[in-house]
Amino acid sequence: MDDGNSDVPEKGVHFIQDALENKNSSSDNKLRPPSFGDFTGQAKTLERLEIMVGAARDRDDALSHILFSGPPGLGKTTLALILGNEMDRTVRITSGPIIEKPGDLAGLLTNLEEGDLLFIDEIHRISKTVEEYLYSAMEDFRIDIMIDQGPNARSVRLNIPRFTLVGATTRMGMLTAPLRSRFTLQTRLDYYDHAALNSIVMRSCKLLEIPAEEEGTQEIARRARGTPRIANNLVHFVRDYAEQRGDGVINLKMAKAALELLEIDDNGLDEMDKRLMKIMANNYRGGPVGLNTLGVAVGEEEDTLAEVHEPFLIQGGYIQRTPQGRVLSSKGYRAIGLSDLAGKDPDDSQEQFQI
Ligand SMILES: Nc1ncnc2c1ncn2[C@@H]1O[C@H](COP(=O)(O)OP(=O)(O)OP(=O)(O)O)[C@@H](O)[C@H]1O
Ligand SMILES: [Mg+2]
Repeated sequence: MDDGNSDVPEKGVHFIQDALENKNSSSDNKLRPPSFGDFTGQAKTLERLEIMVGAARDRDDALSHILFSGPPGLGKTTLALILGNEMDRTVRITSGPIIEKPGDLAGLLTNLEEGDLLFIDEIHRISKTVEEYLYSAMEDFRIDIMIDQGPNARSVRLNIPRFTLVGATTRMGMLTAPLRSRFTLQTRLDYYDHAALNSIVMRSCKLLEIPAEEEGTQEIARRARGTPRIANNLVHFVRDYAEQRGDGVINLKMAKAALELLEIDDNGLDEMDKRLMKIMANNYRGGPVGLNTLGVAVGEEEDTLAEVHEPFLIQGGYIQRTPQGRVLSSKGYRAIGLSDLAGKDPDDSQEQFQI
């Protein structure tokens, strides 16, 4: 940091408006890995980023535009902040729905310094008009904006410093092809495997100074739905549980009991996952059923189902996506304690669907 030198802009993270405030509680920040070296998992994405950062630094050039996609809590924001640290540049953070007018975008872009990173979270929610201005900004580092209306209307060209756009989206499919194609790297984050999650859980326990036994961290990792954010939330809850019901140590017994209280099962399926699958089995004979119908049935936004619940259930093989709608698989039936009915005539087995 350049303390005391007001001519040099302070490096670091600048939150533009408070859009991300509630997602960034102080302990969340504390647990965020600050560099590539501290970041566990996502080997392919990490290697791609390390190559781009290394090359940009060697050439003393700005990093090319990067797009992260994938379900919530897998590390998109974390990686954007790491890119800033590794490039030793400022990261300006904003979010798609906040940039309402082309003027908002122009304001953001003209305030950037050469080489700065502009992180746009939820970039799929950016408005169509703003998106079109983004094209020339990304490609030619300039935007033409209209000033005035009617006979006085004229277009003014603004040059923008070479910057890096880092986009994040939980809904890659909702991004238009022209926008997508303007990112040099588009990289998808996947759910973490057990070993990676376990080291994330152990790291969090260490940072938070929570005494933990290997069997306890393994149990948390196993039930964290492949998601670091969930793993960290579970660490917090299991710690509270162990302090209230045990001697404060996260061990297997405490982890099991705490997770049972949260109704998270052995596979990491939570209450909503199971409710969804039960409704599919009991009310729709295992499907096919549309996501909007399911949303109404469980009282949850369709978007939340699509972004949070469905990807994990599909990846885990519990449900399948077909052109007619979502279908519960045999693994899905077993996960909610019903027998495997796949392949049988649903009419014959109707009775078994009743609760
Ligand atoms: N690879 C990792 N190693 C350690 N901790 C991680 C890792 N990835 C993510 N985390 C932790 O998980 C939390 C959530 O990650 P992050 O905020 O980057 O997710 P996200 O993909 O941006 O989610 P959203 O789509 O909801 O914005 C972070 O606070 C961080 O502590
Ligand atoms: Mg994020």
